[in-house]
Amino acid sequence: MDFNAFKKRIDETFNLDLSSYKETQLHRRINSLMSRRKIVDYLVYYQLLVEDQDAFGEFKDYLTINVTEFFRDPAMFRILEEKVLPELLSNRMVLKIWSAACSNGAEPYSVAMILEDLTPGRRHRIEATDIDEKVLDMAARGVYTSDLLRNVSKARRARHFREGDGCFTFNEQLKKRISFRIHDLLKDPYGKGFDLIICRNVQIYFTRDAQDKINRLFNQALSPGGYLFVGSSETIFNYRDLCFDKSYPCFYKKTEGGLSKDGTTIGAVR
Ligand SMILES: C[S@@+](CC[C@H](N)C(=O)[O-])C[C@H]1O[C@@H](n2cnc3c(N)ncnc32)[C@H](O)[C@@H]1O
Repeated sequence: MDFNAFKKRIDETFNLDLSSYKETQLHRRINSLMSRRKIVDYLVYYQLLVEDQDAFGEFKDYLTINVTEFFRDPAMFRILEEKVLPELLSNRMVLKIWSAACSNGAEPYSVAMILEDLTPGRRHRIEATDIDEKVLDMAARGVYTSDLLRNVSKARRARHFREGDGCFTFNEQLKKRISFRIHDLLKDPYGKGFDLIICRNVQIYFTRDAQDKINRLFNQALSPGGYLFVGSSETIFNYRDLCFDKSYPCFYKKTEGGLSKDGTTIGAVR
């Protein structure tokens, strides 16, 4: 079986669209997993994934690099806190936010802390999704080691975490404001009416076509004037074609009309 046939079988069997992940990187990672198990044939590896849950778990872990931390790229989170959220809050009392590919929750919890500090007690709606069940379980527990909190100020640590046994547990009250669920950016339907979508450090693994498709869907999922917040190495060069303006580094604002359901422009004003 060649690599393309392998990807097709994985999609048919596990509903995982490997063809949207960058080929060279994906190939290298899968080959390295196979060589660890001394497997040279994709068919043999495919059969192993079907029969052995541990092998499949390892495969999925390898695919879904989960690295994250609180306030990853602090300078960008400062823009979020000092510019973007205050602007959104000047138009709306309650914000609807989506942290897509949220990993273990450090990202949506960072946003929850900022919002609690900006608008104490106000119940904004934060949805957080990821393709990987394991990280969502960690997010729901909300227990972290100190290395993930290196960008969290002392004041916020004291206010929003309980320290014990060398770990930090996120504030139960704030935790309740976030709903976590499984969502595959390449397969599942997107919601709508979001004021802010945060999707950082995952599109970098996708092909250009997949990135364009996702960013179009994000545009449709945003309210006019809503923001898309991406990772520092995920510049969207064709943002104008996708009906965004670039407001700050890493922040793209949906233009007035934005994109319609079929991806065409509906009266964008720039
Ligand atoms: C490097 S982490 C980024 C976490 C966080 N957004 C950040 O920037 O710190 C990438 C996350 O993307 C998730 N992921 C990978 N492919 C995905 C897909 N097709 N749909 C949704 N999430 C995906 C992984 O499970 C992982 O948790």
